[in-house]
Amino acid sequence: MIQVKDVERTYVAGDTKVHALKGVSLSVKEGEFLSIAGPSGSGKTTLLNIIGCIDDADKGDVIIDQVDVRSKKPDELAVFRREKLGFVFQTFNLIPVMSAYENVEMVLKLLKISDAEARERTMAILKEVGLEGMEDRRPSRLSGGQQQRVAIARALVKNPTLVLADEPTANLDSVTGKAVLDIMKAMNKKYGTAFIFSTHDKMVMDFAERLVMLHDGKIESDKRR
Ligand SMILES: Nc1ncnc2c1ncn2[C@@H]1O[C@H](COP(=O)(O)OP(=O)(O)O)[C@@H](O)[C@H]1O
Ligand SMILES: [Mg+2]
Repeated sequence: MIQVKDVERTYVAGDTKVHALKGVSLSVKEGEFLSIAGPSGSGKTTLLNIIGCIDDADKGDVIIDQVDVRSKKPDELAVFRREKLGFVFQTFNLIPVMSAYENVEMVLKLLKISDAEARERTMAILKEVGLEGMEDRRPSRLSGGQQQRVAIARALVKNPTLVLADEPTANLDSVTGKAVLDIMKAMNKKYGTAFIFSTHDKMVMDFAERLVMLHDGKIESDKRR
């Protein structure tokens, strides 16, 4: 479903160059639950951003769902991203003035889904992630773990092909982090949505069904567990 081939990415800041990815190749199948792990600075965010069509590689191929995303125009890419990809971030990134319900429903409004269907799907997915009864709360009245559940619901409500989660548990304590991973895995099994999540945390690595280790912009190992 995803083919990344010989991808390179160099950041240039003034007269220093950082080779963040030095020829990364990776294939991901439908429905995989995969972790990209490695120390800080190893290139995890850069790789996720390239797969998520948020950033472009300097070299190499990125094919998602048979679409060569590197050859797409920015507006086509925005549509592709909106329809096919879900994102979960380390800092949750919810809209503070919107309720949990509105944060999730907004995605369906952007996709021009009818109000009735949007309501049904939003309520169902919030229940699925364990937030029944909290739909009207704003993020400030939710715990970190609950906010991340809203973010997972927001990523999943459009039935994406792939969810990308960049260090989704980094701002959570280990018990809450594990609960968030449990929900991600349950959703992966129930809907067959592929998940790629990054981490530098050993406990989180242990949770993956496939572990890709990055080191200094290169894949060091790739193991199914
Ligand atoms: N916008 C940027 N400008 C310059 N260097 C960057 C930028 N983003 C990341 N880097 C550098 O690229 C390397 C990989 O970064 P990153 O992908 O964020 O790694 P990770 O997510 O594993 O911590 C690091 O050396 C980092 O300092
Ligand atoms: Mg990072």
